[in-house]
Amino acid sequence: MTNLPQNEANDPFVDFSDVALRYGDENGTLALSGVDLSIKKGQFAAIVGPSGCGKSSFMKLATGLCPATEGSIRVAGAPVTGPLKITGMAFQNPTLLPWRDTLRNVMLPLEIVQPHRSRLRAEYAKYVAQAKTILATVGLAGFEDKHPWMLSGGMQQRVSLCRSLIHEPQLLMLDEPFAALDAFTREELWSVLQDLWLEKQFTCILVTHDLREAAYLADVIFVMSARPGRVISTHRVDIPRPRTIESTFDPAFVEIVQKIRAEIAQVRKESKAPARPAAQEQVQ
Ligand SMILES: Nc1ncnc2c1ncn2[C@@H]1O[C@H](COP(=O)(O)OP(=O)(O)OP(=O)(O)O)[C@@H](O)[C@H]1O
Ligand SMILES: [Mg+2]
Repeated sequence: MTNLPQNEANDPFVDFSDVALRYGDENGTLALSGVDLSIKKGQFAAIVGPSGCGKSSFMKLATGLCPATEGSIRVAGAPVTGPLKITGMAFQNPTLLPWRDTLRNVMLPLEIVQPHRSRLRAEYAKYVAQAKTILATVGLAGFEDKHPWMLSGGMQQRVSLCRSLIHEPQLLMLDEPFAALDAFTREELWSVLQDLWLEKQFTCILVTHDLREAAYLADVIFVMSARPGRVISTHRVDIPRPRTIESTFDPAFVEIVQKIRAEIAQVRKESKAPARPAAQEQVQ
């Protein structure tokens, strides 16, 4: 984003070149094949595509949780050879620890990720203050001592977002983080996530089935083919920020959503996936 030397701003931060992933032996599932994609530092990218096309597999590759079968993956200028420490992650299920209160759920990564792990005991008060600040940013001031079962699904997902960002990762990976929420809560959290991203300027990759969510949040949307997944088109979203629900009625916004929807419908047709009725511009 801003404040970067020109060359750093232009270098890809996440770079996939002709990447393939096959699970198991040579007869195993070919999840991804020929994936080429690059994301700049500070960019918000969304990945959409039909169910089973390899989106979650892509996330595992980008974070080093799984090695590529072919091709090259570079993140922050270095080849990915194992799990990356510079990432934060959140998924559809908030996966909070039920025996911990909100504050201690948010602080969990600080007990694991260096250099915070070594500093936590000596600088505990500072870290508590940081956790309280980020909880306040997502509207959860006063809920620090509540346990997950005392929070709504939307609140739990806010806590999960705070936990994924507390160690100030350079790369935030979100795999369908809002899919289990009702439409109103989901739209509220788009705004919460956009605010966090505008403030903290991390690079973000969001996997979603919700095309409106992708267009609201992303600078760039990658559309994937059916399995084995590869990127079949790239769409820039040049709608000004901060975006609001009103932005989703902008003709340019509607046009992007319709275009991507048509592309995915075509992919699904070609892959002979069983047709299902579209609901709320979602891709299943
Ligand atoms: N650990 C695994 N071992 C074997 N096959 C796997 C494994 N994980 C995923 N697959 C297969 O790889 C393919 C891609 O799966 P993946 O979960 O990446 O798709 P996805 O795009 O995230 O799907 P969805 O939209 O339903 O979440 C699928 O056919 C899946 O069954
Ligand atoms: Mg998935």
